[in-house]
Amino acid sequence: MKNYVVICLLSFMVSGCVTTPEPSMEHVVDYALNRAVEQYKHMYAVMDSIPEMLPRSVDKNGGLETSDSYFWTSGFYPGTLWYLYEYTGDEQLKEMASRMSDRVEIQKYNKDNHDVGFMINCSFGNKYRLLGDTSCIDIITTTARSLSTRYRSAVGCTRSWSHPGTLHWQFPVIIDNMMNLELLCRATEFSGDKSFYNMAISHADKTMANHFRPDYSCYHVVNYDTISGNALQKCTWQGYADESVWSRGQSWALYGYTMMYRETKQPRYLEQARHIARFLINHPKMPQDKIPYWDFDDPGVPNVLRDASAAAIMASALLELSGYVDKATGQDYIAVAETQLKTLASDEYLAKPGENANFILKHSVGFLPQNSEVDVPLTYADYYFVEALMRYRAMCLKE
Ligand code: GLY
Repeated sequence: MKNYVVICLLSFMVSGCVTTPEPSMEHVVDYALNRAVEQYKHMYAVMDSIPEMLPRSVDKNGGLETSDSYFWTSGFYPGTLWYLYEYTGDEQLKEMASRMSDRVEIQKYNKDNHDVGFMINCSFGNKYRLLGDTSCIDIITTTARSLSTRYRSAVGCTRSWSHPGTLHWQFPVIIDNMMNLELLCRATEFSGDKSFYNMAISHADKTMANHFRPDYSCYHVVNYDTISGNALQKCTWQGYADESVWSRGQSWALYGYTMMYRETKQPRYLEQARHIARFLINHPKMPQDKIPYWDFDDPGVPNVLRDASAAAIMASALLELSGYVDKATGQDYIAVAETQLKTLASDEYLAKPGENANFILKHSVGFLPQNSEVDVPLTYADYYFVEALMRYRAMCLKE
C-alpha cells in the first residue's frame, strides 16, 4: 500500500511536470494572426521590388513563386492584407493592401475565366467592406459585367474555363465556381441590376441539381450541352478520380452554399450547406485533427498528403454556417472549426518567422494529378485561414 501511494505521488509529480495546459483559443487566434502579420509584412518587402506580380506559391527549391494578376489566385494576397489591416488597424498594412489590390484591378475586364470573382471580390470586396471606398463599386460592377458574359441562359450557369487544355468540354462548370457568385450578388446590391443576382441564383440551383451525389459529396466538373443545357458528363480535373471526393471541392461547395444562403436567405441553400457539412464532418476518413486528405478516396489513405487549404476553407465556412442553425448544431460546427484552427496554428502547419517564403501555412495541395503545387504553401490557404481566425474572433471571443 505504501509503495502504491509513493508510485501515485511520483507519477502525479512527473505528469504535473511534463503536461502543459492546452492553450486557449484566444491565445491560438492571436498567436496565428500575429504570425500572419509578421510573414505578410516580410512578403510585402519582397513583392514591392517585383512590379506588377503577386505571390502564388513556392518553386521546387522552396523560393517564392509569383504570378501576374491574370492567374486565378491574384486577389488572395491583397485580400489577406485587408484582413490583417482589420485585425491590427495598422496604417502600413492598409497601404500595402491598397497597393497590392491595385495590381489586380485590371482583371475587372477579364472575360476569359470565372475566377474574376475570387480576384476582385477578395481584394476590392474587402477594401469596400473596410473603407467604404466608393471607387470599389465601379470595379466590382465592371467585373460582374465581365463575368456575366460567361453566362449562357440555355445552361443557366456561368462557364468556368475556356483555356486550351479544357476545350474537350462543351461548357465546363466546376464546383469552385460557386465562390464567384458572391461578386454577382454584390454587383446587384451596388447597381440595382437584378440580372447579376438572377444569374447567381440560377447557377447555384443548376449546380445543386447536377454536381451532387446522393450522399452530398460533389463532382469537380460538370460538362453541359450548350444547346439543351443537359449535363453530358460528370468528372474531375484536380481530384483522384471522377467518382472520388476531392477535398477542396467539398470545401468550396460548403462555403458556396453557406454564402448563397447569406446573400439570398433561400432555405434550400441552407439545407444544402447543412447536408454538405454533415457529409464532411461524419466522413469516416476525416482525420482526428480535421485536416482532410487531399482526396478522401486516394487508395493510399491514410498515407497520403493532407490539404491545409481544404481545412481552412471548411473552417471559415463552418463558422459562418454555425450562425444560421440551431445552437447544438452550431456548437458542433464550431468544435470542428476550432480543431482545424488549432491544428493549422501548430508547428506542423504554421510557418516559423521568415520561413516558408513568408507564406503563413505549409502543406497544401494544388493540383496533384499534374504534379503541380504539391505539399506547398498557397495564397488561398492563407486567405481562408486568416478569414476563419477573424470570424472566430468576432463570433466567439469578443463580448
Ligand atoms: N479553383 C481551383 C482550385 O481550387 O484549385
